Amino acid sequence: MSQQFGAAAARTTADAMRDKLKVEAPVVGMILGSGLGKVAAALESPRKVSYGDVPGFPRVSVVGHAGEATAGKLEGREVLVFSGRPHMYEGNPAQMVAFPVRVLHALGAGVLFLSNAAGGIRRSYRAGDLMIIEDHINLMSQNPLTGSLQEGDDRFPDMSEAYDALLRKLMRDTAPELSVPLHEGVYAGLTGPSYETRAEIRMLERLGADAVGMSTVPEVIVARALGMRVAGVSCIANVASGLSALPVSHTEVLDTTGRVSDQFVKLIRALVGAL
Ligand code: HPA
Repeated sequence: MSQQFGAAAARTTADAMRDKLKVEAPVVGMILGSGLGKVAAALESPRKVSYGDVPGFPRVSVVGHAGEATAGKLEGREVLVFSGRPHMYEGNPAQMVAFPVRVLHALGAGVLFLSNAAGGIRRSYRAGDLMIIEDHINLMSQNPLTGSLQEGDDRFPDMSEAYDALLRKLMRDTAPELSVPLHEGVYAGLTGPSYETRAEIRMLERLGADAVGMSTVPEVIVARALGMRVAGVSCIANVASGLSALPVSHTEVLDTTGRVSDQFVKLIRALVGAL
């Protein structure tokens, strides 16, 4: 398993992607979640490829995830955007879920930017707010680094500042330019695909989580093992289970992420421009 989605496989996939996209060492690699793929449309001189046309790259099957890679320039800097990601709830092991990070690293990206849709747990959060991820809690019952040590990996990576403090500050500085509230908080990663029960949300609140989602954690762990600098943003797509009278639905998640996508692009532009 760890060989199949390990460093050597990532180099092979990265070579194929470099060939197809004519991408030279992107400054930032991005993995964007549900409905947040609009960033790809903001790139200058874009080159695109479907995941399915890149040998060894995981397929994605969720509505709202395009499943394509776009290389191009944003604020004058070369970036590579993965719109859509594999999830553990599709039955994928954590090593596979984090494989795109290994590919970005093999292509030369030193900074990883991740986004996701999440349920808001902190009582002041509203659907449509954005949250800089300050830290995470891994409740996915897997760690993508288990198995044989991969070339370039730290066996026991420090996670005490998994989300880069300077990148978080650069994002905080963009708050005045945004027309939506920008929070900073703790993301709890669960496998899903069922949304949480009300009791689970009460538990997560007591554990110190501000938002909950089904992605991001495995990717961050691998990025830290590889020494990449990490930044992440959650789009609060809905208030979490039991915190409003409404049930949680994927349609609402896509509606909200679509609604804030312009603000999200603004935030990413400001971040990349400040690097
Ligand atoms: N829970 C878990 N994942 C999510 C949610 C949620 O409420 N909203 C969007 N992704």
